[in-house]
Order: sequence, then C-alpha cells, then structure tokens
Amino acid sequence: MKTEWLESLLNPGILKTEGCVPEKSIEEIKAELGLTNVIKISSNENPIGPPPKAIEAAHDCLKELHLYPDPTYHDLRKALGKHLGLHKEEILVGNGGGELIYLIAMAFLGEGQEVIIGDPSYILYEIITKTMRGRCVYSPLKEYGIDLEDMVKRITPLTKLICVCNPNNPTGRSVSRDEFFSFLDSVPPEVFVVSDEAYIDFVKIPNFPDTISRFRSGQNNMLILRTLSKAQGLAGLRFGYLIAHPSIIKAINRFRLPFNVSRAAQMIAIAALKDTEHLRQTINIVNKGKDYLYKMFGEMGLEWIPSDANFILVKMERKAGEIYKALLEKGILVRPAFRLDNHIRITVGTENQNHKLIEALCDVLDISFPPYKV
Ligand SMILES: Cc1ncc(COP(=O)(O)O)c(C=O)c1O
Repeated sequence: MKTEWLESLLNPGILKTEGCVPEKSIEEIKAELGLTNVIKISSNENPIGPPPKAIEAAHDCLKELHLYPDPTYHDLRKALGKHLGLHKEEILVGNGGGELIYLIAMAFLGEGQEVIIGDPSYILYEIITKTMRGRCVYSPLKEYGIDLEDMVKRITPLTKLICVCNPNNPTGRSVSRDEFFSFLDSVPPEVFVVSDEAYIDFVKIPNFPDTISRFRSGQNNMLILRTLSKAQGLAGLRFGYLIAHPSIIKAINRFRLPFNVSRAAQMIAIAALKDTEHLRQTINIVNKGKDYLYKMFGEMGLEWIPSDANFILVKMERKAGEIYKALLEKGILVRPAFRLDNHIRITVGTENQNHKLIEALCDVLDISFPPYKV
C-alpha cells in the first residue's frame, strides 16, 4: 500500500520511529504453527498469575462498571500513599507505566530537546522521544549496566530528561545507591531524571537506591516510575504509578485523559497492594528459577548476564532471530533483545516452563539434555 500521501501530513516525529513490533499472541502462534501449547516467557510477566486478592476485587467491581471511574483517584492514591509513606498529591496513576512515560515526555519535551537513554534500554523511551520530535542521546552500557558517569558527560543545555532504567531492561543490571545518588548530585536541577523501577521487587542487592527517601528529602527533579505489571502480576490490567513533586503532577493533570485508569483497575490495584503473600511467592519462584537457569546456562556453555529482575539476558553464538524462531517452533516464545545482536531475553517462568525452555534450547543448540560441560 502506498503511504507517501500520508507521510507528508503526519507529525514528522512518528516517521523517525519504527514503534514497538507487537508480539504475536499465543492464539496466533498456536494457529500458525499448529501447536497446542505455547510457553510465553517474552514479556517479563508474572509466572504464577494475578494476586488472589486482586481476583476477588475484580469480581466485586463488576457491578459498578456502569459508573465512570473516580477522576481524582482518591482512594487509590490514598492507598498508594499509605503503602509508600507519601502524600497522595505526590502520586500520579496511569494506564500502565507505559502511559506515564508518555505523559512525562509530553509534559517536558519540546522539538529538538534531548533525552539521554541507556543503549540499550527500555524501548518506549526512544519511541516517545522521537514522537515528540526530541532527540535520543544514547549512552552505551558499561558491562551491560547503565553508565551514569557517561550519562552525566552527555548532558547539554538541550537535555530535558535522563531515563535510568533500574534494573535495566533488557540486561537486568542495576545501579547502586552510591552510584545513583552521586549521579543525582551531578545532574543540574533543570534536567529531570526518570528512575524507572518496573522490576524493583525482584532486586536482592542490599545497596539498591532508596529513591523514595531521596525524593522525600527534596530531590524535585527525580520522577520515580513503578508498575503492577511485573511482580504484582497485573500486566493485563494496565496500572502503573509515578512519584513526583505535586506541581509536576498538577501540570500533567492539565492534559492527561480524565479517566486514564478504569474503575476496575482502581479497585483491583488497591486489593493487589495488600496481597503480600502473592508477592512473596512470586519472588520466591523467580529467585529459584533464576538459580536453576543460571546453572543450566552455565552447563550449556552459554554466557548469561546476572540479573536483578525477573528475566535473564543470554548471549548466543548465532543470530538471536534464528534462536527465537527455532524456539517458537517448539512452542516457546522468548524475546530477541532490543539493540543487542545475538542476545535473547528470557523471562523466568514456573519450574516446568524453565525446564521445558532448557530442553528446547538444548535441542536448538544441539546440546545433549540434561546439559553437560563440554
Ligand atoms: C523498564 C520498564 N518500564 C516500564 C514498563 C511498562 O510496563 P507497563 O506499561 O506494563 O506498566 C516496562 C514493561 O515492560 C518495562 O520493562
């Protein structure tokens, strides 16, 4: 289909990005490949499903679906405030963390202004920067981790935002408290730092930055982003939140959609925050799964990157696209890593899923199973 006529009419920013290539659905894969079972370990979702308390709340909210959501999100922001030890005015809720990244960019970014992004890091930072006609300034990773010293060096008078994905997607590496806080000390107050903490619940290292306490002590140019899509198992619900200075939230409220978080999502998210047992079980399964996968990858002679999140980046000798296709034919959906040749990102699954992955990967790589040291 010819699209030239449209291209000259579109926001030119859109033409600079390819966008996210949407992943095939499980149904589509089953139909295309004639499979009855597909293991989806590609989007860092929760291996054990949603929290039981959220499921109960989902039943309860159905009878209220004729009503619009509360546009001020009073109860939800209050519950989050209590959970985090913050005022509700310091919390903005969104239709997933993704929407909040869009809202941040719309609030701060003008044509030609710069956003510093880890290379590689979460793809949405790049897409929204380009869409807003901003300029992506890529900061290469250092040993697979965000290089904060490099990011500081890249600040110019045009810099508006710095996106620190911590732990970083797709590598799983995180920056420590000391590194992050001394980085914050070097960033001018007119440059805003997004601390994207989508995977924070999986972090085990003791010196991970406590950004909320730093925020409480007056770090007004830091925006902390969290989501319930990962450890809380609510990716399908679409709910995330942003912690920021109340005046930033007020500014964003001037243009965000009035009902960006549905009535159901508000009620379910409140219930999910109380389900500490589900969170505990999730972290337990992910930790056990990571130990198993590290061991197996090691025995298979594969290079893997130690991860502070619920996924593992694995380096392959062959093109990631080839491995992806071969695994897909066996009913296993993984993700070739964005902007990193020969690397696949694997979400830690249930014990059974992890086992099936290793079995399939051995087959694809022609390694005997169970893996042995060559
Ligand atoms: C680093 C990071 N930030 C934010 C998000 C957004 O998640 P959601 O829109 O599901 O809340 C994701 C999702 O994969 C992510 O990996």
